Amino acid sequence: MSTTAKSPKPVAPQEIPPLAADLDMALRRLKLAAIRHLAPEVLLTARTQRWTPEELIRTLVEAEIAARDASNIRNRLKAAGFPVAKTLDSFDVAASSIPANTFAYLESLEWIRAQHNLALIGPAGTGKSHTLIGLGIAAVHAGYKVRYFTAVDLVETLYRGLADNTVGKIIETLLRQDLLIVDEMGFAPLDDTGTQLLFRLVAGAYERRSLAIASHWPFEQWGRFLPEHTTAASILDRLLHHATTVITDGDSYRMTHRTEAPHH
Ligand SMILES: Nc1ncnc2c1ncn2[C@@H]1O[C@H](COP(=O)(O)OP(=O)(O)OP(=O)(O)O)[C@@H](O)[C@H]1O
Ligand SMILES: [Mg+2]
Repeated sequence: MSTTAKSPKPVAPQEIPPLAADLDMALRRLKLAAIRHLAPEVLLTARTQRWTPEELIRTLVEAEIAARDASNIRNRLKAAGFPVAKTLDSFDVAASSIPANTFAYLESLEWIRAQHNLALIGPAGTGKSHTLIGLGIAAVHAGYKVRYFTAVDLVETLYRGLADNTVGKIIETLLRQDLLIVDEMGFAPLDDTGTQLLFRLVAGAYERRSLAIASHWPFEQWGRFLPEHTTAASILDRLLHHATTVITDGDSYRMTHRTEAPHH
């Protein structure tokens, strides 16, 4: 945003003349809500501070853009379905086993632009979900469309599509996202059909969209929750062709940062 636009000095509300009714209506019709709300005050400031016409237009237009960007981000955050709000800023990289340069690369979101994948593998409480959600929220702020699922919810969603023959459509809709996050992969075993549905999604996303997954299980043990072995191999093959794999290790952050319940 340009720094040349001036922010109007606050004026007591009773001194601000309202917009002409027809202008107010026109702005409403054009859905320029921010301009409509700000115009009376900005016009008064522009008059008293002798802004150039350009400064006036710039201030109003920038206010409208800022309001739209903010509402756009709000909508995409809601659509992403994050279970909790976790930011990259609140992640203590030094306390995790993720190398700082790897974290910086992930934070750059370059891998999303390149339609590459991310796999976080490690035991409970080592920051996998926090990292996935933090990256997802950062991606939303950067303008990307993101959807968060646990593997169970994802497969359930696909299964529902099987029941009414819409699975192709559901996958297509999911692949409109720039980044699909699949958390808790392998927490519950999948059946053959679930594995095949997952394969369809991973194959559809291959080299077109970014997938970010988290699992307790190292890849060589994915057979524990993916019973269809050739399909499991094909899933991993596509998932890992262009991917950053991060091993999260160490003690559970939950256990080392436990808050004691008050004693009674
Ligand atoms: N390095 C870290 N800095 C700050 N908070 C952390 C860090 N690692 C983990 N946490 C916090 O610890 C808790 C557990 O982390 P998280 O949910 O990301 O673990 P996880 O690896 O997804 O575990 P699980 O496999 O059980 O799902 C969360 O509240 C998270 O915010
Ligand atoms: Mg988790």
